[in-house]
Amino acid sequence: QRRPELLNAFQENVYGTTLPAPTGTTYRDAGGNGSAKKVTITVTGPQGSASFTLRIFTPSSGKPKGTFLLIDHRGSVGDDPSSGGYAPASKITGAGYALAALNAEEVAPDDAGSYRDGVINAFYPAGQDLPADAGRTISAWAWGASRAMDYLQTDPDIDPSKVAVIGHSRGGKAALWAGAQDPRFPVVISNNSGSTGAKLARRDSAGESISAINSQFPHWFPETYKRYDSNADALPVDQNELLALIAPGRVVVASAADDGNADPQGEFLSYLGAAPVYELYGLGDTGLSSTSWPPATGEGFRGPGMSYHLRSGGHGLEDADWDIYLGSDLFTR
Ligand code: GCU
Repeated sequence: QRRPELLNAFQENVYGTTLPAPTGTTYRDAGGNGSAKKVTITVTGPQGSASFTLRIFTPSSGKPKGTFLLIDHRGSVGDDPSSGGYAPASKITGAGYALAALNAEEVAPDDAGSYRDGVINAFYPAGQDLPADAGRTISAWAWGASRAMDYLQTDPDIDPSKVAVIGHSRGGKAALWAGAQDPRFPVVISNNSGSTGAKLARRDSAGESISAINSQFPHWFPETYKRYDSNADALPVDQNELLALIAPGRVVVASAADDGNADPQGEFLSYLGAAPVYELYGLGDTGLSSTSWPPATGEGFRGPGMSYHLRSGGHGLEDADWDIYLGSDLFTR
């Protein structure tokens, strides 16, 4: 009963309304070879079409144990050595998993002047202002992850029942919103997503506030979210309820101890605050040995439906995070 109410409240107040299903979709093989291929997804709406790339890396032999669908806001993944620990394609495939990297910049540019130029303008007339409550970049990225999932359901190399949507930081905000709305993701990973991600909104003075995120990134969220600048207490929802919307899918919250801007303690409290909803499914065990802050760093805590870790060091999606994701059997209870 609460699920549709909460989804509406998040659309109306935080992330904005979600784009409708495309009126048409095509998939085109855009090159690459068997274990590192590119697919171009083209979506059509009433005002036009937009295309974006999904790059898929699979183990050289055997069916992947699962797929990490990365909402890649850096657009430089896998075969680019500069991506480092952010998206270590060979480490992921070497562990027996697939990586599918969605080029988020193509879905919606991360820029206040041009963010509509990807998928949004396929649905809204380019010459008119967007409605105040229409989703912006983060909403478009989450929608793009669902379109990538539509494709993965058609790919014979992938088991679509084992796809984890993952994002780091701004990509983590989008991953949570994608996983809250789309029950096809059995695992949803928030890596250092912070404000308007896993962090509790009511800790507005800890880390990045709502007014700070709205003024620095005016194209991420709808105008309606700006009502809560310096007014977080008026929100009808808080972010633990976003995590709870992922239930009974596995929610994974990862923080970094020195990532003050993301408020790791606020992410931890939000994780704890989602557990009562998981408990309705008999999945309320958070895996943590204690609810006091801070938990031990570098250790993966795992319950049957919820996972958490606190990495030492600062903001980033790093090898140490992947070691925990790849080593903790996320697709089983
Ligand atoms: C900025 C922003 C954060 C965001 C981060 C990132 O620091 O303030 O909200 O998560 O960028 O995406 O790395």
